[in-house]
Amino acid sequence: MKKMPLIFCWILFTACGNTPYPQGKILYENFCVSCHMSDGTGLKSLIPTLVKADYLLENPLKTACIIRYGLKDTIMVNGNIYTQEMAAIPVLSDFEIANIMNYIHSSWGNDMPFVTLAQVKEALDSCTIE
Ligand code: HEC
Repeated sequence: MKKMPLIFCWILFTACGNTPYPQGKILYENFCVSCHMSDGTGLKSLIPTLVKADYLLENPLKTACIIRYGLKDTIMVNGNIYTQEMAAIPVLSDFEIANIMNYIHSSWGNDMPFVTLAQVKEALDSCTIE
């Protein structure tokens, strides 16, 4: 019984520590950072930003489709035009995609809604990107 509070603190710390969505952060670092950068700001006219990006804010669930199927389009993000292709990352599971999205939604000053696994699955079932 005496050890209970300690264990409880550890669980709380892991769940509510400085980095929300630790798995999302690790996956972001492995799969996204080389282009979108560790601060999410992308690369000038080549890679769009994920920080307070109007494109992201207008359709947050589209990110699931972009990760799974890639994006080859001409898009406008915060007033800048992007034409480079983003390759699909098919190895990531629905759950991993949800974690990455929640990491992005709560990082770098972004304050976007939490997405559930069910929402991500639903979005992935109706992707129009090819
Ligand atoms: C090889 C470089 C590269 C990698 C790796 C990459 N992206 Fe992208 N991403 C791009 C490019 C380029 C675009 C613009 C695509 C276009 O114009 O059609 C883009 C567009 C986006 C967009 C839509 C535009 C915006 O800024 O809101 C999102 C969201 C996004 N990427 C998220 C991710 C996430 C999450 C990962 C990791 C799972 C990732 N990207 C990995 C290059 C990359």
